[in-house]
Amino acid sequence: MPNRSISNRLTRRGFIHGAAGAGLTLVAAPALLRRAVAHNWGTACGDPFSLGVASGASRPDGFVLWTRLAPEPLSSDPRTPGGMSGGDVTIGYEIATDSAMRNIVRGGKATAERAYAYSVHLDVTGLRPGRPYWYRFTSGDAASRIGRAATLPARDAALDKLRFGFVSCSNYEHGYFAAYRHLADEHPEFVLYLGDYIYEYVEHNRPVVRRHSDGVESATLPTYRNRYAQYRLDPDLQRLHAEVPALITWDDHEVQNDYAGKYSEYFTDPELFLMRRAAAYRAFYEHMPLRPIVSQPHGPIMRVYDRFGFGGLIEISLIDGRQYRSREACYGPPYKGGAHLETDKSCPERLAASRTMMGFAQEAWLHSGLAHSNAQWNLIAQDVLMAQYRLRQGDDFAFSTDDWDGYPANRTRLLRHIHKTRVANPVVVSGDIHSFLANDLKLDFDDPTSPVVATEFVGTSISSYGPPYRPLARALPDNPHVHFFESRRRGYVCVDLQPAHMQVRMRVVSDARDPNAGISTLRTFAVESGRPGVVAA
Ligand SMILES: [Fe+2]
Repeated sequence: MPNRSISNRLTRRGFIHGAAGAGLTLVAAPALLRRAVAHNWGTACGDPFSLGVASGASRPDGFVLWTRLAPEPLSSDPRTPGGMSGGDVTIGYEIATDSAMRNIVRGGKATAERAYAYSVHLDVTGLRPGRPYWYRFTSGDAASRIGRAATLPARDAALDKLRFGFVSCSNYEHGYFAAYRHLADEHPEFVLYLGDYIYEYVEHNRPVVRRHSDGVESATLPTYRNRYAQYRLDPDLQRLHAEVPALITWDDHEVQNDYAGKYSEYFTDPELFLMRRAAAYRAFYEHMPLRPIVSQPHGPIMRVYDRFGFGGLIEISLIDGRQYRSREACYGPPYKGGAHLETDKSCPERLAASRTMMGFAQEAWLHSGLAHSNAQWNLIAQDVLMAQYRLRQGDDFAFSTDDWDGYPANRTRLLRHIHKTRVANPVVVSGDIHSFLANDLKLDFDDPTSPVVATEFVGTSISSYGPPYRPLARALPDNPHVHFFESRRRGYVCVDLQPAHMQVRMRVVSDARDPNAGISTLRTFAVESGRPGVVAA
Protein backbone atom coordinates (compact mmCIF):
# COMPACT_ATOMS: atom_id res chain seq x y z
CA MET A 1 0.00 0.00 0.00
CA PRO A 2 1.56 3.28 -1.00
CA ASN A 3 1.67 5.81 1.80
CA ARG A 4 3.14 8.68 -0.08
CA SER A 5 5.60 10.82 1.77
CA ILE A 6 5.21 14.45 2.67
CA SER A 7 8.04 15.33 0.29
CA ASN A 8 6.18 13.61 -2.53
CA ARG A 9 3.07 15.62 -1.69
CA LEU A 10 5.13 18.81 -1.69
CA THR A 11 6.57 17.89 -5.07
CA ARG A 12 3.10 17.31 -6.44
CA ARG A 13 1.90 20.62 -5.02
CA GLY A 14 4.81 22.42 -6.65
CA PHE A 15 3.96 20.80 -9.95
CA ILE A 16 0.35 21.90 -9.72
CA HIS A 17 1.26 25.52 -9.03
CA GLY A 18 3.76 25.46 -11.85
CA ALA A 19 1.27 24.07 -14.32
CA ALA A 20 -1.48 26.48 -13.38
CA GLY A 21 0.02 29.59 -14.89
CA ALA A 22 -1.93 30.12 -18.08
CA GLY A 23 -5.17 29.53 -19.92
CA LEU A 24 -7.48 29.67 -16.93
CA THR A 25 -9.97 32.21 -18.07
CA LEU A 26 -12.91 29.83 -18.34
CA VAL A 27 -12.85 28.64 -14.77
CA ALA A 28 -12.10 29.94 -11.33
CA ALA A 29 -8.39 30.28 -10.66
CA PRO A 30 -7.11 26.98 -9.26
CA ALA A 31 -5.92 28.53 -6.01
CA LEU A 32 -9.40 29.90 -5.37
CA LEU A 33 -10.92 26.63 -6.39
CA ARG A 34 -8.66 24.66 -4.09
CA ARG A 35 -9.53 26.93 -1.19
CA ALA A 36 -13.22 26.49 -1.95
CA VAL A 37 -12.87 22.73 -1.78
CA ALA A 38 -10.09 22.58 0.77
CA HIS A 39 -9.88 19.48 2.85
CA ASN A 40 -7.29 19.02 5.53
CA TRP A 41 -5.52 15.81 4.63
CA GLY A 42 -2.97 16.27 7.40
CA THR A 43 0.67 15.37 7.17
CA ALA A 44 0.20 11.88 8.60
CA CYS A 45 -2.31 11.01 5.94
CA GLY A 46 -1.64 9.25 2.64
CA ASP A 47 -2.47 10.43 -0.85
CA PRO A 48 -6.27 10.78 -1.15
CA PHE A 49 -5.91 9.92 -4.86
CA SER A 50 -3.97 6.72 -4.23
CA LEU A 51 -6.41 4.71 -6.39
CA GLY A 52 -5.83 6.88 -9.44
CA VAL A 53 -8.36 8.13 -11.95
CA ALA A 54 -10.42 6.65 -14.78
CA SER A 55 -12.70 7.75 -17.57
CA GLY A 56 -15.44 5.85 -19.35
CA ALA A 57 -19.07 5.72 -20.50
CA SER A 58 -18.03 8.07 -23.31
CA ARG A 59 -20.57 9.87 -25.49
CA PRO A 60 -20.19 12.43 -28.30
CA ASP A 61 -20.56 15.31 -25.86
CA GLY A 62 -18.92 13.95 -22.74
CA PHE A 63 -17.86 11.10 -20.50
CA VAL A 64 -17.72 10.01 -16.88
CA LEU A 65 -14.64 10.85 -14.83
CA TRP A 66 -13.93 8.70 -11.81
CA THR A 67 -11.82 8.75 -8.71
CA ARG A 68 -12.22 7.51 -5.15
CA LEU A 69 -10.73 9.24 -2.13
CA ALA A 70 -8.70 6.68 -0.22
CA PRO A 71 -5.77 8.02 1.81
CA GLU A 72 -5.56 4.57 3.45
CA PRO A 73 -6.77 2.44 0.53
CA LEU A 74 -6.71 -0.90 2.35
CA SER A 75 -8.14 0.31 5.64
CA SER A 76 -9.53 -2.73 7.41
CA ASP A 77 -12.04 -0.73 9.43
CA PRO A 78 -15.40 -0.96 7.63
CA ARG A 79 -16.50 2.28 9.31
CA THR A 80 -13.75 4.21 7.54
CA PRO A 81 -13.56 2.97 3.93
CA GLY A 82 -10.23 3.92 2.44
CA GLY A 83 -9.38 5.72 5.67
CA MET A 84 -12.18 8.24 5.15
CA SER A 85 -14.82 9.33 7.64
CA GLY A 86 -17.49 12.00 7.89
CA GLY A 87 -19.93 13.20 5.26
CA ASP A 88 -19.63 13.77 1.54
CA VAL A 89 -16.46 15.56 0.46
CA THR A 90 -16.39 18.27 -2.20
CA ILE A 91 -13.33 18.20 -4.41
CA GLY A 92 -12.27 20.16 -7.47
CA TYR A 93 -11.77 19.07 -11.05
CA GLU A 94 -10.25 20.54 -14.18
CA ILE A 95 -10.59 19.48 -17.82
CA ALA A 96 -8.15 20.68 -20.48
CA THR A 97 -7.61 20.24 -24.19
CA ASP A 98 -3.90 19.52 -23.73
CA SER A 99 -1.91 16.99 -21.74
CA ALA A 100 -0.04 19.71 -19.82
CA MET A 101 -3.38 21.11 -18.54
CA ARG A 102 -2.62 24.59 -19.88
CA ASN A 103 -5.84 25.18 -21.82
CA ILE A 104 -8.46 24.41 -19.21
CA VAL A 105 -11.97 24.41 -20.68
CA ARG A 106 -13.97 23.16 -17.77
CA GLY A 107 -13.63 23.07 -14.01
CA GLY A 108 -15.63 23.11 -10.84
CA LYS A 109 -16.67 20.95 -7.95
CA ALA A 110 -17.44 17.29 -7.72
CA THR A 111 -18.80 15.23 -4.84
CA ALA A 112 -17.10 12.23 -3.31
CA GLU A 113 -20.10 10.43 -1.87
CA ARG A 114 -19.81 8.87 1.54
CA ALA A 115 -22.56 6.39 0.55
CA TYR A 116 -20.35 5.09 -2.24
CA ALA A 117 -17.05 4.86 -0.37
CA TYR A 118 -16.15 8.45 -1.27
CA SER A 119 -16.08 7.69 -4.98
CA VAL A 120 -16.70 10.37 -7.61
CA HIS A 121 -18.71 9.73 -10.77
CA LEU A 122 -18.57 13.06 -12.59
CA ASP A 123 -20.87 13.03 -15.63
CA VAL A 124 -19.42 15.68 -17.94
CA THR A 125 -21.49 16.99 -20.85
CA GLY A 126 -21.28 19.79 -23.40
CA LEU A 127 -17.85 18.96 -24.82
CA ARG A 128 -16.83 18.71 -28.46
CA PRO A 129 -17.16 15.30 -30.14
CA GLY A 130 -14.35 13.05 -31.31
CA ARG A 131 -11.40 14.43 -29.40
CA PRO A 132 -9.26 13.74 -26.35
CA TYR A 133 -9.39 15.75 -23.14
CA TRP A 134 -7.16 15.64 -20.09
CA TYR A 135 -8.34 16.02 -16.52
CA ARG A 136 -7.38 15.93 -12.89
CA PHE A 137 -9.00 16.17 -9.50
CA THR A 138 -7.81 18.39 -6.66
CA SER A 139 -8.50 18.53 -2.97
CA GLY A 140 -6.79 20.91 -0.61
CA ASP A 141 -3.09 20.55 -1.25
CA ALA A 142 -3.46 17.24 -3.06
CA ALA A 143 -3.97 16.59 -6.78
CA SER A 144 -4.62 13.41 -8.71
CA ARG A 145 -2.49 12.29 -11.59
CA ILE A 146 -3.57 13.69 -14.95
CA GLY A 147 -5.89 11.36 -16.84
CA ARG A 148 -6.87 11.22 -20.50
CA ALA A 149 -10.50 10.93 -21.58
CA ALA A 150 -12.13 11.17 -24.99
CA THR A 151 -15.52 12.02 -26.40
CA LEU A 152 -17.00 9.71 -29.02
CA PRO A 153 -17.03 10.94 -32.62
CA ALA A 154 -20.23 12.61 -33.82
CA ARG A 155 -22.84 10.06 -34.85
CA ASP A 156 -22.48 10.89 -38.55
CA ALA A 157 -18.67 11.23 -38.51
CA ALA A 158 -16.78 9.21 -41.12
CA LEU A 159 -13.93 7.37 -39.42
CA ASP A 160 -11.30 5.63 -41.50
CA LYS A 161 -9.66 3.76 -38.63
CA LEU A 162 -10.06 2.90 -34.97
CA ARG A 163 -7.87 0.92 -32.57
CA PHE A 164 -9.23 -0.68 -29.44
CA GLY A 165 -8.28 -3.46 -27.05
CA PHE A 166 -10.22 -6.02 -25.10
CA VAL A 167 -9.20 -7.70 -21.86
CA SER A 168 -10.54 -10.08 -19.25
CA CYS A 169 -9.60 -12.16 -16.23
CA SER A 170 -6.90 -10.44 -14.21
CA ASN A 171 -6.27 -12.60 -11.16
CA TYR A 172 -3.96 -10.60 -8.88
CA GLU A 173 -2.66 -13.72 -7.16
CA HIS A 174 -1.86 -15.53 -10.42
CA GLY A 175 0.37 -12.88 -11.92
CA TYR A 176 1.34 -9.32 -12.62
CA PHE A 177 -0.54 -7.02 -14.95
CA ALA A 178 2.21 -6.41 -17.51
CA ALA A 179 -0.39 -7.05 -20.22
CA TYR A 180 -2.28 -3.93 -19.11
CA ARG A 181 0.92 -1.91 -19.43
CA HIS A 182 1.64 -3.18 -22.92
CA LEU A 183 -1.91 -2.44 -24.01
CA ALA A 184 -1.50 1.14 -22.77
CA ASP A 185 1.67 1.37 -24.88
CA GLU A 186 -0.40 0.60 -27.99
CA HIS A 187 -2.50 3.74 -27.41
CA PRO A 188 -5.93 2.29 -28.18
CA GLU A 189 -8.90 4.66 -28.30
CA PHE A 190 -10.64 2.60 -25.62
CA VAL A 191 -10.45 -0.70 -23.78
CA LEU A 192 -13.31 -3.15 -23.39
CA TYR A 193 -13.17 -4.90 -20.01
CA LEU A 194 -15.10 -8.15 -20.45
CA GLY A 195 -15.17 -9.37 -16.87
CA ASP A 196 -13.29 -11.00 -14.02
CA TYR A 197 -11.69 -7.65 -13.35
CA ILE A 198 -11.18 -8.84 -9.78
CA TYR A 199 -11.26 -12.31 -8.26
CA GLU A 200 -13.31 -12.69 -5.14
CA TYR A 201 -11.68 -15.89 -3.92
CA VAL A 202 -8.30 -16.56 -2.35
CA GLU A 203 -6.10 -19.10 -4.12
CA HIS A 204 -5.38 -22.13 -1.93
CA ASN A 205 -4.55 -24.83 -4.47
CA ARG A 206 -2.16 -23.37 -7.03
CA PRO A 207 1.01 -21.28 -6.83
CA VAL A 208 0.61 -17.54 -6.34
CA VAL A 209 2.96 -14.68 -7.18
CA ARG A 210 1.33 -12.16 -4.83
CA ARG A 211 -1.44 -12.33 -2.29
CA HIS A 212 -4.88 -10.84 -1.91
CA SER A 213 -3.79 -8.85 1.07
CA ASP A 214 -6.74 -9.39 3.39
CA GLY A 215 -6.54 -13.14 2.82
CA VAL A 216 -10.30 -13.62 2.87
CA GLU A 217 -12.83 -14.31 0.14
CA SER A 218 -14.69 -11.13 -0.76
CA ALA A 219 -18.31 -11.56 0.28
CA THR A 220 -19.22 -8.32 2.06
CA LEU A 221 -19.11 -4.66 1.06
CA PRO A 222 -15.85 -3.90 2.97
CA THR A 223 -14.08 -6.97 1.56
CA TYR A 224 -15.19 -6.29 -2.03
CA ARG A 225 -14.10 -2.66 -1.61
CA ASN A 226 -10.69 -3.71 -0.42
CA ARG A 227 -10.29 -6.13 -3.30
CA TYR A 228 -10.96 -3.39 -5.84
CA ALA A 229 -8.66 -1.04 -3.94
CA GLN A 230 -5.83 -3.57 -4.01
CA TYR A 231 -6.22 -4.11 -7.76
CA ARG A 232 -6.35 -0.38 -8.39
CA LEU A 233 -3.06 0.08 -6.54
CA ASP A 234 -1.40 -2.00 -9.25
CA PRO A 235 0.66 0.51 -11.27
CA ASP A 236 -0.02 -1.08 -14.67
CA LEU A 237 -3.80 -1.19 -14.18
CA GLN A 238 -3.78 2.30 -12.73
CA ARG A 239 -1.85 3.59 -15.73
CA LEU A 240 -4.16 1.93 -18.27
CA HIS A 241 -7.19 3.52 -16.62
CA ALA A 242 -5.51 6.93 -16.49
CA GLU A 243 -4.54 6.86 -20.16
CA VAL A 244 -7.33 4.98 -21.94
CA PRO A 245 -11.13 5.30 -21.59
CA ALA A 246 -12.84 2.18 -20.29
CA LEU A 247 -16.04 0.45 -21.43
CA ILE A 248 -16.85 -2.13 -18.81
CA THR A 249 -19.00 -5.14 -18.20
CA TRP A 250 -18.60 -7.94 -15.69
CA ASP A 251 -18.48 -11.72 -15.49
CA ASP A 252 -18.86 -13.97 -12.45
CA HIS A 253 -15.83 -13.28 -10.25
CA GLU A 254 -16.93 -9.73 -9.54
CA VAL A 255 -19.45 -11.53 -7.30
CA GLN A 256 -18.78 -15.28 -7.02
CA ASN A 257 -17.52 -18.03 -9.33
CA ASP A 258 -20.15 -19.26 -11.81
CA TYR A 259 -23.13 -17.54 -10.24
CA ALA A 260 -26.18 -17.17 -12.44
CA GLY A 261 -28.76 -14.51 -11.62
CA LYS A 262 -29.70 -15.11 -8.00
CA TYR A 263 -28.26 -18.61 -7.93
CA SER A 264 -24.94 -19.35 -6.24
CA GLU A 265 -22.82 -22.32 -7.17
CA TYR A 266 -22.98 -23.30 -3.48
CA PHE A 267 -26.79 -23.48 -3.37
CA THR A 268 -27.05 -20.53 -1.02
CA ASP A 269 -30.61 -19.38 -0.35
CA PRO A 270 -31.27 -17.00 -3.29
CA GLU A 271 -32.47 -14.23 -0.97
CA LEU A 272 -29.21 -14.44 0.98
CA PHE A 273 -27.17 -14.63 -2.20
CA LEU A 274 -28.85 -11.47 -3.49
CA MET A 275 -27.53 -9.65 -0.41
CA ARG A 276 -24.02 -10.68 -1.36
CA ARG A 277 -24.69 -9.70 -4.97
CA ALA A 278 -25.87 -6.27 -3.80
CA ALA A 279 -22.60 -5.71 -1.93
CA ALA A 280 -20.55 -6.85 -4.92
CA TYR A 281 -22.47 -4.72 -7.42
CA ARG A 282 -22.19 -1.69 -5.16
CA ALA A 283 -18.41 -2.08 -4.88
CA PHE A 284 -18.21 -2.53 -8.67
CA TYR A 285 -20.08 0.75 -9.19
CA GLU A 286 -17.91 2.50 -6.63
CA HIS A 287 -14.75 1.65 -8.57
CA MET A 288 -15.77 2.06 -12.19
CA PRO A 289 -16.30 5.09 -14.43
CA LEU A 290 -20.00 4.29 -14.89
CA ARG A 291 -22.83 6.71 -15.39
CA PRO A 292 -24.46 7.91 -12.17
CA ILE A 293 -28.24 7.44 -12.04
CA VAL A 294 -28.22 4.99 -14.99
CA SER A 295 -25.75 2.56 -13.44
CA GLN A 296 -26.18 3.34 -9.75
CA PRO A 297 -27.11 0.08 -8.01
CA HIS A 298 -30.45 -0.44 -6.35
CA GLY A 299 -29.80 -3.28 -3.95
CA PRO A 300 -28.89 -6.30 -6.08
CA ILE A 301 -30.02 -4.63 -9.34
CA MET A 302 -27.68 -2.58 -11.48
CA ARG A 303 -27.70 -1.54 -15.14
CA VAL A 304 -24.40 -2.33 -16.83
CA TYR A 305 -25.36 -3.09 -20.42
CA ASP A 306 -24.95 -0.14 -22.74
CA ARG A 307 -24.34 0.91 -26.35
CA PHE A 308 -21.60 3.08 -27.85
CA GLY A 309 -21.32 4.33 -31.44
CA PHE A 310 -18.10 5.49 -33.07
CA GLY A 311 -19.39 7.58 -35.96
CA GLY A 312 -20.61 5.37 -38.76
CA LEU A 313 -17.74 2.91 -38.33
CA ILE A 314 -18.81 0.70 -35.43
CA GLU A 315 -21.52 0.33 -32.85
CA ILE A 316 -20.72 -1.61 -29.70
CA SER A 317 -23.34 -3.38 -27.63
CA LEU A 318 -21.88 -4.13 -24.21
CA ILE A 319 -23.76 -7.02 -22.65
CA ASP A 320 -24.42 -8.16 -19.08
CA GLY A 321 -24.24 -11.96 -19.17
CA ARG A 322 -24.67 -12.69 -15.45
CA GLN A 323 -27.35 -10.63 -13.73
CA TYR A 324 -30.39 -11.84 -15.68
CA ARG A 325 -29.44 -15.48 -16.34
CA SER A 326 -31.54 -18.51 -15.78
CA ARG A 327 -29.75 -20.73 -13.29
CA GLU A 328 -27.29 -23.32 -14.57
CA ALA A 329 -28.97 -26.18 -16.42
CA CYS A 330 -29.65 -29.20 -14.20
CA TYR A 331 -28.65 -27.16 -11.15
CA GLY A 332 -28.44 -29.27 -8.04
CA PRO A 333 -26.25 -30.40 -5.18
CA PRO A 334 -23.65 -31.54 -4.59
CA TYR A 335 -21.64 -30.62 -7.73
CA LYS A 336 -23.90 -28.92 -10.22
CA GLY A 337 -24.18 -25.39 -8.93
CA GLY A 338 -21.69 -23.90 -11.35
CA ALA A 339 -20.12 -24.97 -14.65
CA HIS A 340 -20.51 -28.68 -15.33
CA LEU A 341 -20.69 -30.86 -18.41
CA GLU A 342 -24.00 -32.24 -19.64
CA THR A 343 -25.12 -34.24 -22.66
CA ASP A 344 -28.54 -33.91 -24.25
CA LYS A 345 -29.52 -37.18 -22.61
CA SER A 346 -28.24 -36.31 -19.14
CA CYS A 347 -29.79 -32.82 -19.17
CA PRO A 348 -32.58 -32.04 -21.65
CA GLU A 349 -33.27 -28.91 -19.59
CA ARG A 350 -30.20 -27.26 -21.17
CA LEU A 351 -32.07 -27.05 -24.47
CA ALA A 352 -35.25 -25.47 -23.09
CA ALA A 353 -36.49 -22.45 -25.06
CA SER A 354 -37.34 -20.64 -21.85
CA ARG A 355 -33.72 -20.50 -20.70
CA THR A 356 -32.02 -17.13 -21.02
CA MET A 357 -28.46 -15.85 -20.73
CA MET A 358 -29.32 -12.19 -21.20
CA GLY A 359 -32.79 -11.87 -19.73
CA PHE A 360 -35.62 -11.02 -22.09
CA ALA A 361 -35.51 -7.23 -21.58
CA GLN A 362 -31.81 -7.05 -22.44
CA GLU A 363 -32.34 -9.44 -25.34
CA ALA A 364 -35.06 -7.19 -26.79
CA TRP A 365 -32.81 -4.15 -26.31
CA LEU A 366 -29.95 -5.90 -28.14
CA HIS A 367 -32.12 -7.13 -31.00
CA SER A 368 -33.64 -3.69 -31.46
CA GLY A 369 -30.23 -1.99 -31.40
CA LEU A 370 -28.76 -4.39 -33.93
CA ALA A 371 -31.76 -4.09 -36.25
CA HIS A 372 -31.60 -0.29 -36.23
CA SER A 373 -27.84 0.16 -36.40
CA ASN A 374 -26.46 2.01 -39.41
CA ALA A 375 -22.85 1.27 -38.49
CA GLN A 376 -20.45 -0.48 -40.85
CA TRP A 377 -19.45 -2.91 -38.07
CA ASN A 378 -21.48 -4.16 -35.12
CA LEU A 379 -19.65 -5.49 -32.10
CA ILE A 380 -21.24 -7.47 -29.29
CA ALA A 381 -18.90 -7.32 -26.30
CA GLN A 382 -19.73 -9.80 -23.56
CA ASP A 383 -18.33 -12.14 -20.96
CA VAL A 384 -18.34 -15.80 -22.08
CA LEU A 385 -17.65 -18.06 -25.09
CA MET A 386 -20.52 -17.86 -27.57
CA ALA A 387 -19.52 -20.57 -30.06
CA GLN A 388 -20.55 -24.14 -29.44
CA TYR A 389 -17.71 -26.30 -28.03
CA ARG A 390 -18.45 -30.02 -28.07
CA LEU A 391 -16.50 -32.37 -25.82
CA ARG A 392 -16.66 -36.08 -26.50
CA GLN A 393 -18.15 -38.16 -23.70
CA GLY A 394 -18.40 -41.79 -24.74
CA ASP A 395 -20.58 -41.94 -27.84
CA ASP A 396 -22.09 -38.59 -27.06
CA PHE A 397 -21.08 -34.93 -26.79
CA ALA A 398 -21.06 -32.92 -23.60
CA PHE A 399 -21.38 -29.15 -23.22
CA SER A 400 -20.40 -26.73 -20.48
CA THR A 401 -23.41 -25.25 -18.72
CA ASP A 402 -21.75 -21.93 -17.82
CA ASP A 403 -21.13 -20.35 -21.24
CA TRP A 404 -23.54 -19.92 -24.17
CA ASP A 405 -23.63 -23.72 -24.55
CA GLY A 406 -25.65 -23.63 -21.34
CA TYR A 407 -28.19 -21.33 -23.00
CA PRO A 408 -28.36 -22.51 -26.63
CA ALA A 409 -31.93 -21.29 -27.23
CA ASN A 410 -30.86 -17.72 -26.41
CA ARG A 411 -27.85 -18.08 -28.75
CA THR A 412 -30.00 -19.41 -31.57
CA ARG A 413 -32.46 -16.53 -31.21
CA LEU A 414 -29.60 -14.02 -31.41
CA LEU A 415 -27.86 -15.60 -34.40
CA ARG A 416 -31.15 -16.01 -36.27
CA HIS A 417 -31.94 -12.37 -35.61
CA ILE A 418 -28.51 -11.29 -36.89
CA HIS A 419 -29.05 -13.38 -40.02
CA LYS A 420 -32.64 -12.30 -40.63
CA THR A 421 -32.12 -8.58 -40.12
CA ARG A 422 -28.82 -8.63 -42.05
CA VAL A 423 -26.84 -6.92 -39.33
CA ALA A 424 -23.74 -5.41 -40.97
CA ASN A 425 -20.49 -7.16 -40.08
CA PRO A 426 -21.41 -8.64 -36.71
CA VAL A 427 -18.45 -9.55 -34.49
CA VAL A 428 -18.60 -10.95 -30.95
CA VAL A 429 -15.75 -10.50 -28.46
CA SER A 430 -15.64 -12.62 -25.34
CA GLY A 431 -13.61 -13.48 -22.23
CA ASP A 432 -13.97 -15.88 -19.29
CA ILE A 433 -12.14 -19.00 -20.43
CA HIS A 434 -8.54 -17.78 -20.22
CA SER A 435 -7.89 -18.89 -23.79
CA PHE A 436 -7.61 -17.35 -27.22
CA LEU A 437 -10.16 -18.57 -29.74
CA ALA A 438 -11.11 -17.46 -33.26
CA ASN A 439 -14.53 -18.81 -34.23
CA ASP A 440 -17.12 -18.74 -36.96
CA LEU A 441 -20.58 -18.35 -35.45
CA LYS A 442 -22.95 -20.52 -37.45
CA LEU A 443 -26.71 -20.37 -37.76
CA ASP A 444 -26.75 -24.06 -36.82
CA PHE A 445 -23.51 -25.39 -35.35
CA ASP A 446 -24.55 -29.01 -35.94
CA ASP A 447 -25.14 -28.56 -39.68
CA PRO A 448 -21.95 -28.35 -41.78
CA THR A 449 -23.87 -26.61 -44.57
CA SER A 450 -25.31 -23.94 -42.28
CA PRO A 451 -24.12 -20.39 -43.04
CA VAL A 452 -21.61 -18.45 -40.97
CA VAL A 453 -23.50 -15.42 -39.68
CA ALA A 454 -20.95 -13.74 -37.40
CA THR A 455 -17.36 -13.95 -36.15
CA GLU A 456 -16.15 -14.40 -32.57
CA PHE A 457 -12.79 -13.66 -30.98
CA VAL A 458 -12.09 -14.73 -27.42
CA GLY A 459 -9.26 -13.06 -25.51
CA THR A 460 -7.08 -14.93 -23.10
CA SER A 461 -6.62 -13.80 -19.50
CA ILE A 462 -4.42 -10.94 -18.35
CA SER A 463 -2.96 -13.21 -15.66
CA SER A 464 -5.42 -15.96 -14.60
CA TYR A 465 -4.29 -19.53 -15.17
CA GLY A 466 -5.61 -21.15 -18.33
CA PRO A 467 -7.53 -24.43 -18.55
CA PRO A 468 -5.62 -27.61 -19.51
CA TYR A 469 -4.61 -27.31 -23.17
CA ARG A 470 -4.65 -30.93 -24.36
CA PRO A 471 -8.22 -32.01 -23.61
CA LEU A 472 -9.63 -28.87 -25.20
CA ALA A 473 -7.26 -28.96 -28.20
CA ARG A 474 -8.17 -32.62 -28.76
CA ALA A 475 -11.77 -31.53 -29.24
CA LEU A 476 -10.95 -29.19 -32.15
CA PRO A 477 -11.85 -31.73 -34.88
CA ASP A 478 -15.33 -31.94 -33.33
CA ASN A 479 -15.63 -28.16 -33.54
CA PRO A 480 -14.64 -27.23 -37.09
CA HIS A 481 -15.97 -23.69 -36.69
CA VAL A 482 -13.14 -23.05 -34.18
CA HIS A 483 -10.15 -21.91 -36.24
CA PHE A 484 -7.75 -21.36 -33.37
CA PHE A 485 -7.44 -22.29 -29.70
CA GLU A 486 -4.63 -21.54 -27.26
CA SER A 487 -4.95 -21.66 -23.47
CA ARG A 488 -1.27 -21.57 -22.45
CA ARG A 489 -0.52 -17.90 -22.95
CA ARG A 490 -1.61 -14.75 -21.10
CA GLY A 491 -2.25 -11.38 -22.73
CA TYR A 492 -4.91 -9.33 -24.47
CA VAL A 493 -6.32 -8.58 -27.92
CA CYS A 494 -5.69 -5.44 -29.96
CA VAL A 495 -8.08 -4.66 -32.83
CA ASP A 496 -7.36 -2.31 -35.74
CA LEU A 497 -10.56 -1.49 -37.56
CA GLN A 498 -11.09 0.09 -40.97
CA PRO A 499 -14.33 0.31 -42.95
CA ALA A 500 -13.45 -2.71 -45.10
CA HIS A 501 -11.24 -4.70 -42.76
CA MET A 502 -10.82 -5.73 -39.13
CA GLN A 503 -7.40 -6.91 -37.99
CA VAL A 504 -7.23 -8.82 -34.71
CA ARG A 505 -3.85 -9.28 -33.01
CA MET A 506 -3.59 -11.75 -30.15
CA ARG A 507 -0.87 -10.33 -27.92
CA VAL A 508 0.98 -12.41 -25.34
CA VAL A 509 3.26 -11.53 -22.44
CA SER A 510 6.48 -13.50 -22.03
CA ASP A 511 5.60 -14.56 -18.46
CA ALA A 512 2.73 -13.21 -16.37
CA ARG A 513 4.76 -14.03 -13.24
CA ASP A 514 7.28 -11.39 -14.28
CA PRO A 515 6.24 -7.76 -13.64
CA ASN A 516 8.68 -6.72 -16.40
CA ALA A 517 7.40 -9.26 -18.94
CA GLY A 518 7.85 -8.49 -22.62
CA ILE A 519 5.17 -8.64 -25.33
CA SER A 520 4.79 -10.30 -28.71
CA THR A 521 2.08 -11.24 -31.18
CA LEU A 522 0.91 -14.86 -31.03
CA ARG A 523 -1.42 -14.83 -34.03
CA THR A 524 -3.15 -12.29 -36.24
CA PHE A 525 -6.59 -12.81 -37.76
CA ALA A 526 -8.88 -10.69 -39.87
CA VAL A 527 -12.49 -10.22 -40.86
CA GLU A 528 -13.35 -8.70 -44.24
CA SER A 529 -16.38 -6.46 -44.56
CA GLY A 530 -19.34 -8.31 -46.04
CA ARG A 531 -17.91 -11.78 -45.32
CA PRO A 532 -18.59 -13.09 -41.82
CA GLY A 533 -16.02 -15.53 -40.53
CA VAL A 534 -12.40 -15.76 -39.48
CA VAL A 535 -9.67 -15.11 -42.05
CA ALA A 536 -5.97 -15.72 -41.40
CA ALA A 537 -4.15 -12.41 -41.70
FE1 LIG B 1 -11.81 -15.59 -15.36
